[in-house]
Amino acid sequence: MARKPAALALVVACATLALAGSAIAGNAGFGPPPPATPSGHSIQTVYWVIFGICAVVFVGVETTLLLFVFRYRRRRHVPETAEGPQIHGNTRLEIFWTLVPALVLVGIAFFVFAKTPAVRASGAAESAGAMRVRVESHQFYWEYRYPNGAISVDTLRLPVDRPVRLELVSFDVNHSWWVPELTGKLDAIPGRTNVLRFTPMRTGTFTGYCAELCGIQHAVMRTDVEVMSQDAFDSWVTTRGRSTAELGRETLDGVCAKCHGFEGEGDIGPPIAGNSTLVNKQALTMLLDEGQNLPSFPSYMPAVGLGWPERQVDALIEYVKSNPTLSGGTASGG
Ligand code: CUA
Repeated sequence: MARKPAALALVVACATLALAGSAIAGNAGFGPPPPATPSGHSIQTVYWVIFGICAVVFVGVETTLLLFVFRYRRRRHVPETAEGPQIHGNTRLEIFWTLVPALVLVGIAFFVFAKTPAVRASGAAESAGAMRVRVESHQFYWEYRYPNGAISVDTLRLPVDRPVRLELVSFDVNHSWWVPELTGKLDAIPGRTNVLRFTPMRTGTFTGYCAELCGIQHAVMRTDVEVMSQDAFDSWVTTRGRSTAELGRETLDGVCAKCHGFEGEGDIGPPIAGNSTLVNKQALTMLLDEGQNLPSFPSYMPAVGLGWPERQVDALIEYVKSNPTLSGGTASGG
C-alpha cells in the first residue's frame, strides 16, 4: 500500500527539480532578458502576467489531477475487473468548466490587445522626432542606412533616449530582425517595408539575430546594436557619412567573410584571396548585382550587393587593396 504514495512523491520531486533547473538557468531563467526599451518592458509585463495565469491554472489542474488519482484509486478489496460508478452529465459543472477557461482566454486577449500599442511603440510621442534607419536585409547580413547617407554593416548605432523607426526591407528572401533586449522580432519581406519602433533607454551593446531561416548561413546572420550618447552618435554618424574607410572592412567581414572566410581563405564558398575580380570594379559590381549561378561553376552565390551605392563597392575594393592577404594571395579560379 505504501508503494503508490511513494511513487507519487517521486513524480512530484522530479517535476519540482525539472522546474527549478530552468528557473535558475541563464539570465532571468525562462523569462525575457532585462529590457532596454519601454517596448521591452511591455513585452516583459505581458509575458509575466500570462505566465502567472498559466501557472495558477497549471497548479490547479495538476493538483486536482493528482488528488483525484489518489482519492479515487482502486481499493484493495475491489476486483480489477469491477466497473467504476457510471455518471452521466453534470450541467452546472460543464457550464463552469467551459465558461471559466473561455473567460480566462478572453481576459488574456483583451490584456494583450491593450498592451500592443506599447509593445509596438506606436503612440504619437514615440513617432514624433523619431530617427529613421533603413534596414536592408540580405543573405546573410544587415545593411543599415542612416538619414545622412551613412552606411554600416551588421552593427547598428543608435542614440540613447531617442525614438527610432526601423524600416525593414529584404532583397532576397524573408529574414527577421530580432534584438530581444530592445523589442519583439519583425520580418523583413521582399516587396514590403515593415516598420519597427522603439526607444533605447540605456547605453550598451545588445546582440540580436536573424530569426527566420533564410539559407545556409542563417546562423551567422547576427547583429549588434550599440546604443550611445547623442553626442557620440552624432560624431560617429557624421564621420561615417563622410568617410568610407571603415565601411570597406565592415563590408568584407559582414558580407564576404561569412562564406569566403575573413582572409578570403574559403569556407562554404570558394577561396577568394588574390582573386582579380575583387579589385576589378566592373567585374565585382556585376558579380555583386547578379550573383553566381552558372551550371558550369559549382558554387552558387546570391546577389549579395543588390542596392549598394557605388561608394560601398569602392570602399570594399579599397579595403581589399589595403590588405595584402586578400589582394596578394595566390590567385584562384572563378
Ligand atoms: Cu536572415 Cu536568417
